[in-house]
Amino acid sequence: MERMIRKAVVQDVSQMQELINGYADSGMMLPRSLGELYDNIRDFTICVNRDQLLGCCALHVCWTDLAEIASFAVRQDLHRQGIGSQLLNASVGGAQELGITTVFTLTRIPDYFRKYGFFEVDKSTLPQKVWSGCIKCPKFPDCDEIAMVKRL
Ligand SMILES: CC(C)(COP(=O)(O)OP(=O)(O)OC[C@H]1O[C@@H](n2cnc3c(N)ncnc32)[C@H](O)[C@@H]1OP(=O)(O)O)[C@@H](O)C(=O)NCCC(=O)NCCS
Repeated sequence: MERMIRKAVVQDVSQMQELINGYADSGMMLPRSLGELYDNIRDFTICVNRDQLLGCCALHVCWTDLAEIASFAVRQDLHRQGIGSQLLNASVGGAQELGITTVFTLTRIPDYFRKYGFFEVDKSTLPQKVWSGCIKCPKFPDCDEIAMVKRL
């Protein structure tokens, strides 16, 4: 299948929401409203086959030296074909270009991120600002995500 990694454009947003919220419905990630996706469209790298979305990953800058990897998802029928790794590498590369020295993620699949040089940290070591979105999480305050960072 032909596939291309590129930055998202507004025309991709409805497919991005469908992919992300499909996983959110089964408790695997946070849901995203259309408003949030349009607000943060510049954060997203996506993988497409022509106009068809295969996967997405966001890099959200939080602070002078910190950015978050979020809304990372690949279509269920296309798992384990390297799409996730391409998206993650592109997003981490984007962080490097911005001069970011640390990326972090909150995840339930630490083994995946360990393969890419992320390691577990205590959540309390991340700045307060990171937690502003948690209030919208259906699991709040019983968070079951693991905080992981990668130094660039
Ligand atoms: C996580 C996700 C984006 C990975 O995408 P993917 O395209 O399947 O990943 P890749 O094909 O690039 O996998 C790369 C490697 O990670 C491994 N891997 C894939 N999913 C894994 C998982 N859940 N746990 C541990 N390792 C995993 C693969 O076996 C592969 O290893 P290999 O190269 O040694 O064979 C995808 O599984 C997904 O959409 N999951 C549901 C949403 C989710 O949980 N997102 C993460 C939120 S933090």
